[in-house]
Amino acid sequence: MREVLRADAMRALVRRARRRGESIGFVPTMGALHEGHLSLVRRARREHDRVVVSLFVNPLQFGPREDYRTYPRDAVRDARLCRAVGCDWLFRPSATALYPLDFETSVRPGDLAARWEGAERPGHFSGVCTVVLKLLHIVEPDVLYLGQKDAQQAAVVAAMMRDFNMATRLSVAPIVRDRDGLALSSRNVYLNDEERVRAAGLPRALLAASRLARRGVRDARRLEAEARGVLRREAKPQRIDYLKVVDPRTLAPVRRLEGRGLLLASVRIGRTRLLDNRYLIPKRGAR
Ligand code: PAJ
Repeated sequence: MREVLRADAMRALVRRARRRGESIGFVPTMGALHEGHLSLVRRARREHDRVVVSLFVNPLQFGPREDYRTYPRDAVRDARLCRAVGCDWLFRPSATALYPLDFETSVRPGDLAARWEGAERPGHFSGVCTVVLKLLHIVEPDVLYLGQKDAQQAAVVAAMMRDFNMATRLSVAPIVRDRDGLALSSRNVYLNDEERVRAAGLPRALLAASRLARRGVRDARRLEAEARGVLRREAKPQRIDYLKVVDPRTLAPVRRLEGRGLLLASVRIGRTRLLDNRYLIPKRGAR
């Protein structure tokens, strides 16, 4: 595995590979890698001749009162993990390389980015889209790999790729969870022991709603109430930012499950914001 710091060097490497007829899979990350990230890299490894992982904590997607400065960083460990799962090129540009002083253009995503995370974190998805667009122009991959963990991010990026006629395809991989169900996240390290135990109440709440859906309940308010009950009892969150049954495509709230629904949640446990989601698959022909 080779570490690449400069955008022009990165592009030269992938272009040379492409001229040899090799396909390129690309996994963007902000580092502090865990099995969730690595599952994406392994999938890219299985499906492509060359695998590029980027490691860049993108200042543009953090709000002024968010954790940009304290976001967990460990480039040595990340490089070791990437090498172990068969990454070819680890692209880790500096902030000034991607955003020099005269940088001035950004992507403004549409309505998909306005709700949920977008409402909690103004400007976040503009920052995500801008950096993903830049990375895609540098790496020019055949396939971009994102995680279902950040379902709205995947939907917003998919819309950008469609709207900007990008040649890259998107592949969204399932959520990797810890033994107790908590979705792996770089931010889980912020949880203390007691909070970590409570945090497992979040996936259990989503699971409770999905079981109810499978038993035939289609009313979104009932499904949300079920999840909220388990969440309050088991996770005792400081705050529920949102907990909603939405249409998986548009992310708009639904009143009733017609086909598949997606239950989206963000809660605060202590000072940590946790995100999770789960598909709700209704039983055929039920209430
Ligand atoms: P980051 O939070 O580091 O996540 C990188 C990728 O890993 C994202 O596509 C995310 O959805 C996926 N991921 C995280 N936890 C996962 C889990 N438990 N299971 C499966 N996949 C998981 O998301 C970002 O970085 C940034 O916004 C980025 C896209 C890199 C742009 O800066």
